[in-house]
Amino acid sequence: MPQRLKRIGVLTGGGDCPGLNGVIRAVVKTAAFEHGIETIGIENGYAGLIHDRMRALTTGDVGGILARGGTILGASNRDDPFHVPVIENGEMAKKDLSEQSLRNAERRGIELLVVIGGDGSLAIAHQLSGRGIPIIGVPKTIDNDLPATDMTFGFDSALSVATEALDRLHTTAMSHQRVMVLEVMGRNAGWIALHAGMAGGGDAILIPEIPFDIEIVAQMVRERIYHGRPFALIVVAEGAAPIGGGPVVREWVPESTDPIRLGGIGALVAGELSRRLDLECRATVLGHLQRGGTPTPYDRVLATRFGEAAVRAAVAGERDVMVRLRGRAIETVPIAEVVGPVRKVDPDGDLVRAARCVGTSFGDRPLGPR
Ligand code: F6P
Repeated sequence: MPQRLKRIGVLTGGGDCPGLNGVIRAVVKTAAFEHGIETIGIENGYAGLIHDRMRALTTGDVGGILARGGTILGASNRDDPFHVPVIENGEMAKKDLSEQSLRNAERRGIELLVVIGGDGSLAIAHQLSGRGIPIIGVPKTIDNDLPATDMTFGFDSALSVATEALDRLHTTAMSHQRVMVLEVMGRNAGWIALHAGMAGGGDAILIPEIPFDIEIVAQMVRERIYHGRPFALIVVAEGAAPIGGGPVVREWVPESTDPIRLGGIGALVAGELSRRLDLECRATVLGHLQRGGTPTPYDRVLATRFGEAAVRAAVAGERDVMVRLRGRAIETVPIAEVVGPVRKVDPDGDLVRAARCVGTSFGDRPLGPR
């Protein structure tokens, strides 16, 4: 019989994501209402654990936050207690402050930590668990690239923003006879681009998993012009790259556990197409609009289910596991199975096949006769 928990901590690791507040709310309310457990909110991800910035969260504190974007605990710049940047003798160095972090948690009476995060935060959680603090993980990312879960919360909200953007670009592309290129997030996986491109009827979808040839994309647009449709919608994932090339890096953030920030491929694609076509080509970068704002109903429900399941697993004595969605059920899986390469789009899978069958180009091979 596991020892009865009295106090747990909750932290939201890495960048923000629609649905975070829904998970926090579900953790705090389930813990209090169902099990009489107190919750301590840790501010700004692992930074709060390292620097002892925490506060008690009551059920009153989490009232009315379900529909609110962001995180009431504050996001973080992907801090890592095992590699904390410090200035020593005038030089920047990285220090292991995991012991200090665990002591902070212990002093606050935290017996178990619920970590809501993506691959980086969950990998750190797994390491911390090896140092003795019980952990339950909750999968978060708009990119939907975590292995071992069918879906992360946040993805549906990002997808709905990207799809609406495409619908809006569609009408203006038609009216002005332009090629509109929409760059979406997703890091090195093409889930947002693929789903939004399919939902928004993109003429081309360029994703990291399928390197593209810009001449093939240009030829697709020429064929549209020939068939009396002189405009096009192209969705490009920030991690997409031409055949033989690499993704475009926008920024390098050295203090982050995930230092590469992608971005800029949309402008490159629009520029290359302008040189090849007689149509005006414009690029739109959707950026953080995909991460901000209110979560969709789907994400609110998933966030609530994940939060409740995390507390249930904690009370049942499960440790070092992550809650996940499998089919329609919420289950747990060892975090060890999540730590590793991200989940990518299968270039030969049914999603890509369905998109190709309705005439979408992935820029890798010429379209058949139409
Ligand atoms: O992982 C979520 C995500 O939004 C990615 O899609 C994107 O590449 C990255 O984070 C952007 O990070 P930041 O907000 O630090 O620029």
